[in-house]
Amino acid sequence: MDYYSIKIPNFSPLFISSPVSDLGFSGSNLFIMSSDRRIYIFDTTLRDGEQVPGCQLNTVEKIQVARMLEELGVDVIEAGFPISSPGDFNSVVEISKAVTWPVICALTRAVPKDIDTAAEALKYARHKRIHTGIGTSDSHIRYKFNSNREEILERAVAAVKYAKKYVEDVEFYAEDAGRTDNEYLARVVEAVIKAGATVVNIPDTTGYCLPEEYASKIRYLVENVDGIDKAIISTHCHNDLGMATANTISGLIAGASQCEVTINGVGERAGNTALEEIAMIIRSHSDIPLQTNINTTKIAPASRMVSSLMSMPVQANKAIVGRNAFAHSSGIHQDGVLKDVSTYEIINPKDVGIDDNQIVLTARSGHAALKYRLETLGVKMSEEKLDDFYNNVFLKYADQRKQVGDDDLLALCGAHRGPAVHIKLDYLQVTSGKGVRPVASVGLDIAGEKFEAASGGNGPVDAALNAIKTIIRRHVTIKEFTIQNITNGSDDLGKVHMQVESEGRVYYGFGASTDIITASVEAYLDCINKFKNVNLE
Ligand code: KIV
Ligand code: ZN
Repeated sequence: MDYYSIKIPNFSPLFISSPVSDLGFSGSNLFIMSSDRRIYIFDTTLRDGEQVPGCQLNTVEKIQVARMLEELGVDVIEAGFPISSPGDFNSVVEISKAVTWPVICALTRAVPKDIDTAAEALKYARHKRIHTGIGTSDSHIRYKFNSNREEILERAVAAVKYAKKYVEDVEFYAEDAGRTDNEYLARVVEAVIKAGATVVNIPDTTGYCLPEEYASKIRYLVENVDGIDKAIISTHCHNDLGMATANTISGLIAGASQCEVTINGVGERAGNTALEEIAMIIRSHSDIPLQTNINTTKIAPASRMVSSLMSMPVQANKAIVGRNAFAHSSGIHQDGVLKDVSTYEIINPKDVGIDDNQIVLTARSGHAALKYRLETLGVKMSEEKLDDFYNNVFLKYADQRKQVGDDDLLALCGAHRGPAVHIKLDYLQVTSGKGVRPVASVGLDIAGEKFEAASGGNGPVDAALNAIKTIIRRHVTIKEFTIQNITNGSDDLGKVHMQVESEGRVYYGFGASTDIITASVEAYLDCINKFKNVNLE
């Protein structure tokens, strides 16, 4: 395939009210000028990524992630969907105030009140974009909107014109474009560009497309839409069939100049395209003449920060950021790497911010060493929270161990909710064993008041949770209960991830302890702490 003889839409900074330019400097990162085509990284960790049940962040946590994204060098941060909740609205407002360089984008449906609310939320953004759109596949038109193609086209144009009253930079998404007929898609894209859209987003919403199919969709638009050179084409791929990254790269090579991605590939169902994979593919392949503004040495800290704040573990063999991504375990590989690292390594771990010179933390390490290590891992804490974490969590754990590794530290951070938590475990005593019916006694501190209960169960965890249920009178069903495997021996931390359902909503909880029953109870309480109202006896 001759990738480079195709017509590529020109990017003009006129169409994006952002500081990104091809002048060699963007945001806080310097990028080398070259003839490679510049790809704009649109990060949607805080919108599409945050839609995952149990991954919700509060505003302070979202600001932390947004600042990290700015350091990473992303061009656009999709900060939320302001009409969806007051919390989302507030997060867009606060992120707009907190970051300087990236464009701040807010999502809307093709509905005036959504657009009004997004414009209001973006009030403080230095560079702002409204992202509006509508489903264009026959299935969306018929079943979601009970409408027809002509009416949807009119609504798309009206939404873009309406958003243009507020901002210059308007992105239009054609939801389910992956399954939309190309001829109709081209008509919609042409019409919204005429109406003023500066970016046209072509989402493969269901993650159905094959890479060549997605690339030819982008090429079709490049070749058949009048005025396509007045807008940026954007990719937005989901990973339902494991092809999000392949589809995104194919779309970029075919002519798209922006890609929508998330850290660690977090997102609804099987997730979105992972930022780190796109950045490293483009960096590693000199045969692909594309470039981004990403400072790749910030990838590992950003990955750890998002994983820890969302309590969303990264799978060990995940490309670029998984625990095993650079671990060579077979004898043949180890031998080759020792002779010359290029035999089995295509990426230098330092290029993605993985440092080998770890400071070993022990019970004798002070605040400064702990703070340094946490920051290297992407975890930032206020002095007050660090103090509390150091005295009440770190020292207690370090006293039982020779040294504290990175995984343990991150698990302890994820499990430690600090003094603000409403319901805390005071004590837990369990009797169990062969031939004995398990019995548990539990003491809870609920906003300063003490509660106690005892109960039996089918096993020690069941007994402990039954005791809690007699204090917290609410129907709770456990949907998922995962104990993460212990890698370093029987005295290692046990990590528990739990999903529960209550009153029609799903809540996610995490707990970590050297005692697996305590870790399970902590995970359960973490879920309950997220309930709005808890009735007590
Ligand atoms: O997947 C999708 O289609 C989306 C749009 C709302 C952009 O997330
Ligand atoms: Zn999406």
